[in-house]
Amino acid sequence: MKKILLIDDEKNLLRTVSLNLSSRGFFVDAALSAEEGFSLFNEKRHDIILCDLKLQGISGIDLLSKIRIFDKDVIFIVITAFGTIKQAVDAMKLGADDFISKPVDIDGLVENLKIALQKRNPEKISDDFHDENIEKIKKDFIFKSNEMEEILKEVVLTSKSVSNVLITGETGTGKEVLAKIMHALSERKGDFVPINLNAIPINLMESELFGHEKGSFTGAVVTQKGKFEIVNGGSLFLDEIGEMPFAMQAKLLRVIQEKEFSRLGSNLKIKLNARIICATNVNLEENVIEKKFREDLFYRINVLHFKIPPLRERRDDIPALANYFAGKYSAVNKKNIKAISKDTVNILMNYDFPGNIRELENIIERAVVVATSDAIEPPNLPKTMFSKQIQTYKNLTGPADGDIKLDEVEINLIKNALQKNNYNQTKTAISLGISRKQLITKVKKYGLFRLK
Ligand SMILES: Nc1ncnc2c1ncn2[C@@H]1O[C@H](COP(=O)(O)OP(=O)(O)OP(=O)(O)O)[C@@H](O)[C@H]1O
Ligand SMILES: [Mg+2]
Repeated sequence: MKKILLIDDEKNLLRTVSLNLSSRGFFVDAALSAEEGFSLFNEKRHDIILCDLKLQGISGIDLLSKIRIFDKDVIFIVITAFGTIKQAVDAMKLGADDFISKPVDIDGLVENLKIALQKRNPEKISDDFHDENIEKIKKDFIFKSNEMEEILKEVVLTSKSVSNVLITGETGTGKEVLAKIMHALSERKGDFVPINLNAIPINLMESELFGHEKGSFTGAVVTQKGKFEIVNGGSLFLDEIGEMPFAMQAKLLRVIQEKEFSRLGSNLKIKLNARIICATNVNLEENVIEKKFREDLFYRINVLHFKIPPLRERRDDIPALANYFAGKYSAVNKKNIKAISKDTVNILMNYDFPGNIRELENIIERAVVVATSDAIEPPNLPKTMFSKQIQTYKNLTGPADGDIKLDEVEINLIKNALQKNNYNQTKTAISLGISRKQLITKVKKYGLFRLK
């Protein structure tokens, strides 16, 4: 999500423009003076600054000169009062990217912002990485958020290391995908060998990991290599490490420390030649305190730690992932989905995804299958996603029976906002975060006129 810093000493303009830009998917910070704006910018490094030229204290021009000394990249757009074009031109000479005049036309402004953003290198990420491997990764590993960019940078930096890795994150956040990327970047000669410790019965775990000799236990009819041997130079992915039984943890610790192991029923020592990557969705620190996980093993595997944030904490990734999955499942299902409608994206952006990316993937796969046009629309999403809105609706109107349609939810939200704001259209539009024009269209569409 692009971050905008809006600076103007007119409170009303600040409020209306902020609300309108937020409703179009920008993150907006507002400041009443250049001084306040400057300190906000130092803290958050916005992508765009929209600044009035005439401010009390430091002027917009002075702020522009100050910022351009150390930041040539931030997009700086000046807002001018009617008839002060000369000042705007001066500002352009000093390095402003564009100027707009009051009253601010939001549609026009958004167009200008898009153009300005496009002029800046849109693929900033690849510049930062200086690594061609990233291009390969980006095909299957989709991200737009700064949070994931930071993680990926670190993954690239440490890709050739042999240190053990711990990846943590809620279910469906992409821990296994990240582990595979680490392996691909490591250029190790062996394979990526995953083991899901949750899926192996406890009595077979040791043999699965280290292998066994024929006859070493009932049922061991042939000699078999374990995953630690099969991996042979590659990366061993110990998934759900938090589920490993306590007794087994001691054995694993010894193998990691001594870098050798034996098959069950054999004394022959085999050298461990693998990078160990562990993953878990449980809080291992807590398990250590509760004595469910060995502290010494925790420190052994936790040399490099990557914590993948849940999707709801990196919402910028949602539209990109949704588009990627729409494309993928459209091809798989031989459908011709060309887009995800704006309303659908809005709903996705406001949903918390307890199952993270896996849940988003399932939702989009289903939506592609049920879509009847070439775009994914809100009715193609599962009903459960609307429960939050439906709850609001129920709170506003009392209990409702039967199915609730999205339209009904919208109607009631608008009706309520109109009543609260005494049918003042401007105030109602602001409280709903939509433009006055959009509000009027909806009032007409649903016939929500004031009853005399
Ligand atoms: N950045 C991404 N880009 C594209 N697909 C992704 C991304 N992250 C995850 N996925 C997809 O989401 C699904 C879940 O990912 P993965 O299995 O890696 O999650 P996990 O964290 O290991 O989950 P669990 O804790 O349940 O094992 C997979 O289908 C994976 O391909
Ligand atoms: Mg997993």
